[in-house]
Amino acid sequence: MLGAMCAGSVLSSCTGTKVNTEEPQEKYKRLIFFFSATGNSLYIAKELSGAEGTLKSIAQEIHNEHPVYEAEEIGIVCPIYCFIPPTIVQEFFARSTFKANYLFCVGTYGANSTIFPEYVAQMAKDKGLEMNYINTIKMVDTYLPFYDMELQKAEDKQIPENLAAIKDSVNSRENFIRPVSEQEKMFCEGYYRFSGRDRVKPTFTRSEKIVFSTDDCIGCGICNSVCPHGSWKIVNGKSVAEGDCENCLACVHNCPTKSISIIPTPPEPEEPNRNSRYRNPNVRVGEIILANSQVNFNA
Ligand SMILES: Cc1cc2nc3c(=O)[nH]c(=O)nc-3n(C[C@H](O)[C@H](O)[C@H](O)COP(=O)(O)O)c2cc1C
Ligand code: SF4
Ligand code: SF4
Repeated sequence: MLGAMCAGSVLSSCTGTKVNTEEPQEKYKRLIFFFSATGNSLYIAKELSGAEGTLKSIAQEIHNEHPVYEAEEIGIVCPIYCFIPPTIVQEFFARSTFKANYLFCVGTYGANSTIFPEYVAQMAKDKGLEMNYINTIKMVDTYLPFYDMELQKAEDKQIPENLAAIKDSVNSRENFIRPVSEQEKMFCEGYYRFSGRDRVKPTFTRSEKIVFSTDDCIGCGICNSVCPHGSWKIVNGKSVAEGDCENCLACVHNCPTKSISIIPTPPEPEEPNRNSRYRNPNVRVGEIILANSQVNFNA
């Protein structure tokens, strides 16, 4: 056995809810949990899942009242937000019980992944688990306040080569945690100090504070369907943002008419990359909807 075995117990979730974690519902060979707003992480999760793997969406599994999972190998694939996993991923991880012989995590990012491997290793330690493999893969950076998607797409981030290496490592159950350099720690520390962001939930917010729909909205409801919190509602034929927000930008990137804009940070008069939008070319909007839609939970 390579590690990462956790006995059943009663855990407290980040929201304080007690969850029963004694017996798994099903046993799998390779089980991959993913969260994805624009498809990068879903693409990597699909590639790592292969023919025998099973994919589960964290935005759906977060509602599982019996979150006990058993598999030969369990993986988490998610974007990196402010150097750490999104809040929804952290909450899912904290409230779930994982029973596996091999536990791995791959974070997708666009510019700097810095402390992500250490942070995830610590998240696991906090639950009495040891990660076998943690790595990061550079892809298109979807953070619109900083990046133009056309420039991002044009950059060669060596995704096929890096993905092939990660696949080989996971398939051979390699034990490896990507080291974090002192320089990366300092960069991260400086960013948190400068931005004043919360260190556990740096991007979690309210949707009405970061996004709004314009007059071009056709009321199709896709923004709400791709939102992991279902934080959009149609008012007088137009979509209005209201509710919890991961800041994932799924609504902004996936709106078919580019009718959603990010509220600019003063002194910017408007969103810097207003017409720049992205979805991973290997992922359809329907897959993001299937993964993230909260329609059944909000009904
Ligand atoms: C709110 C937010 C914060 C982000 N923070 C970082 C970051 O700290 N470092 C980085 O390199 N990329 C960052 N990114 C870029 C994403 O991690 C990257 O584009 C990821 O592959 C998106 O995955 P997805 O397509 O599965 O949603 C951020 C993106 C968003 C939306
Ligand atoms: S996805 Fe865009 S067009 Fe459709 S309802 Fe939302 S804001 Fe309007
Ligand atoms: S409102 Fe938009 S940015 Fe916020 S969680 Fe929903 S989809 Fe993501």
